[in-house]
Amino acid sequence: MNTIVANKFINSNQTLTHIAVVMDGNGRWAERRGYVRNQGHKIGVSSLKQLVKNCINERIQYLTVFAFSSENWTRTESEIVFLMTLFERTIRAELQGLAKQGIRLKFVGNNDSLPDSLVGAMREAEQTTESNNLLGLNICFNYGGKWDIVQGIKKLLENNPDVIKDYTKLTEQSFSQYLALADIPEPDLFIRTGGEQRLSNFLLWNLAYTELYFTDILWPDFDKGDLREAIDFYVGRKRKFGGTVDFRVGASEDENNDQLSNIL
Ligand code: IPE
Ligand code: IPE
Ligand code: MG
Repeated sequence: MNTIVANKFINSNQTLTHIAVVMDGNGRWAERRGYVRNQGHKIGVSSLKQLVKNCINERIQYLTVFAFSSENWTRTESEIVFLMTLFERTIRAELQGLAKQGIRLKFVGNNDSLPDSLVGAMREAEQTTESNNLLGLNICFNYGGKWDIVQGIKKLLENNPDVIKDYTKLTEQSFSQYLALADIPEPDLFIRTGGEQRLSNFLLWNLAYTELYFTDILWPDFDKGDLREAIDFYVGRKRKFGGTVDFRVGASEDENNDQLSNIL
């Protein structure tokens, strides 16, 4: 069985474990070429397949992508139907290949308003890949960060009806186990393609301390070199988590320790 080996280009204190991506710009990519918007979504799937391979090569352990937001229902009916159909077809067509690559699939979002056949394909894909552990691929579909927090509150109350009486004991930690991505480390690096610099209701809770990277590249054009650029950006960051000592992500342990002893 394939096993996880931490990426080697970053020191052991600050590995790059989890990348979260807003795959934006499909429509503009198509419009600029005189195609219909849906053509951009189709090519966007190939970009995602490449990203998955490149993340495995970079020894990333978790990849979370935003495929359809809770706000995307405001699009035209024909685009919504196209996206639902494309999503289901892609899951069915890619499942065996993804399973063989050692990928564990997880679909995150509100299934209530999705077609039954799509929900069936998602469940089958999760069951088929549940024992894989090379790359955890989380696909956020009909997902919203606000929805996630509210469903977490509902789940918390369902599982602990007494929490109301005992609410003063509630902590960030005890609540966060009810969020959709509980059990998975928070994203280290957030990437948004397409030029917009906003979260668009993606993982609101989970991105609290994530390094944010925005690029003008449109999603269908995002390739291996662009992922490298995003990783290089991350490697150059100083993550402080509210502290006062700078730990540069790409620095060696000795360098960071020297910096510490100079200060102490
Ligand atoms: C992102 O691309 C894909 C989805 C939201 C499904 P867009 O469709 O938002 O592309 P632009 O932003 O209009 O170019
Ligand atoms: C965010 O992109 C959602 C996905 C990529 C699935 P949008 O294109 O929907 O976001 P806005 O409308 O620019 O905020
Ligand atoms: Mg967009």
